[in-house]
Amino acid sequence: MAVNALEVRSLTKVIGKKKIVDDVSFSVNRGEIFGLLGPNGAGKTTIIRMIVSLIKRTDGAVSVNGHNLDGQFKEMMSEIGAIVENPEFYKYMSGYKNLKHYANMAIKEVSDERIMEVARLVKLDDAIHQKVKTYSLGMRQRLGVAQALLHNPSLLILDEPTNGLDPQGIREFRDYLHALAHEGISVLVSSHLLAEMQLMCDRFAIIEKGKLIHISSMKEAMEEDEKTEVIFEVSSSQKAVDVLKGQAAVSSIKVLADDQFSVHVEKATISTINKLLISNDIDVYGISRVTVSLEDRFLEITNKEVRENGGVVQ
Ligand SMILES: Nc1ncnc2c1ncn2[C@@H]1O[C@H](COP(=O)(O)OP(=O)(O)OP(=O)(O)O)[C@@H](O)[C@H]1O
Ligand SMILES: [Mg+2]
Repeated sequence: MAVNALEVRSLTKVIGKKKIVDDVSFSVNRGEIFGLLGPNGAGKTTIIRMIVSLIKRTDGAVSVNGHNLDGQFKEMMSEIGAIVENPEFYKYMSGYKNLKHYANMAIKEVSDERIMEVARLVKLDDAIHQKVKTYSLGMRQRLGVAQALLHNPSLLILDEPTNGLDPQGIREFRDYLHALAHEGISVLVSSHLLAEMQLMCDRFAIIEKGKLIHISSMKEAMEEDEKTEVIFEVSSSQKAVDVLKGQAAVSSIKVLADDQFSVHVEKATISTINKLLISNDIDVYGISRVTVSLEDRFLEITNKEVRENGGVVQ
């Protein structure tokens, strides 16, 4: 069996009497971008800080490429590149000198060629000899990634990497992460920005109040239910409702406007409705399916959790 890029088992953190991270388990496959999603204060940063040993675990096990945090710490850390808090740079030094400084502290030897290679990789090669104080936020972010990649890690861990980036910067960053994943680097990324994670991740977990409450591929989460909501634009929604009322397959008709109604139906029923409307002299101007966003799914999942736990907030 292939070894997972990252394996987290029963990770737990107790501070005082509070369980900040509660029995969290997940794994990240090679070349996969895995998202940790959750509202502010859910425990994402705490999970990441435990994985990279910035803080102690209360319980649980972490391994990277088969190297266990207990016993093979050095081997494990040499596989990880991370940006946890905003990386600190010397603003009056060039990007290159900052990278050189990090290279000197790296767990593995880093050649000057490698420094230029990562600079090219994050598209900073043109600006690499400029002082960091002249860099934009996006450029600093990329310098952070360059620094995390210096020692050729197989796993990149990024805590809220797009904080403060503009939409263009976020998009570039996303493309860039996809390119890295394509080269076989695995990525663990945390965020509370759902729309962004939807585009960035292959799989994701939702963390809420320290607990992992959902894990799935993005594709699975976005798959539509058997029934979908469809909006019809017609010459008369009232006439359409009269025609469709007796149809067993058509449930929950909602009139949205004089010329618009919605139904919750299976795919095959959409064309049945269309034919019925036309044969009853109702003009159909448009049929559109309501697409589901990760935000909708996220709210569904978290609301379900509240219902199943009787709404108890711990
Ligand atoms: N050293 C600490 N002492 C006490 N409580 C802490 C400590 N560190 C974190 N916490 C608490 O643990 C919870 C989780 O914090 P954490 O920073 O991991 O959340 P997060 O999911 O990263 O949130 P955000 O999206 O705001 O970054 C919060 O309620 C926080 O107040
Ligand atoms: Mg955080």
